[in-house]
Amino acid sequence: MRNFKSLITGAAAIMLSLSVLGQNSAPQPKPWPVPDEFKNMKNPVAKNETTNKAGQVLYTKLCASCHGKTGLGDGVKARMLKDFPGDFSGAFYQNQTDGEHFYKTKFGRNEMPKYEGKCTDEEIWQMVNYMRAFKK
Ligand code: HEC
Repeated sequence: MRNFKSLITGAAAIMLSLSVLGQNSAPQPKPWPVPDEFKNMKNPVAKNETTNKAGQVLYTKLCASCHGKTGLGDGVKARMLKDFPGDFSGAFYQNQTDGEHFYKTKFGRNEMPKYEGKCTDEEIWQMVNYMRAFKK
């Protein structure tokens, strides 16, 4: 009877630690609040072949090392990051507004670098446009 009890306790402990580990490794972005004035911003850059190409060149040069060439969060540096950079092909990303993508790219957070001062607003909007192409 005593053995049975410790077996159950042991199994429960293993299950608990597995669920805790599972939570840590699951790519769940932490909430990242964006002020309304950014959220509702209109993208001033028209979507066409020229601006798409410009966005692609910038994205490949500046972002793909972490976010991956197709935005899956599998760039060569991604492995070394503490936080999952996100899956740009999925609904969580694609359901955000252009303004939210713009804000997060411009100001960054933790391991996500800020591009304020490194890219012009126009360049950031071009990348925001380009990253819509990752939608599955
Ligand atoms: C050094 C690695 C790294 C580079 C380079 C990088 N990012 Fe990120 N990015 C991250 C990480 C990590 C996160 C997740 C941050 C968080 O949630 O705190 C992130 C998050 C984001 C988000 C928010 C995603 C979401 O679903 O909310 C956007 C948008 C973004 N990055 C765009 C870019 C763009 C555009 C570039 C290039 C100009 C870029 N990133 C370059 C690491 C990087």
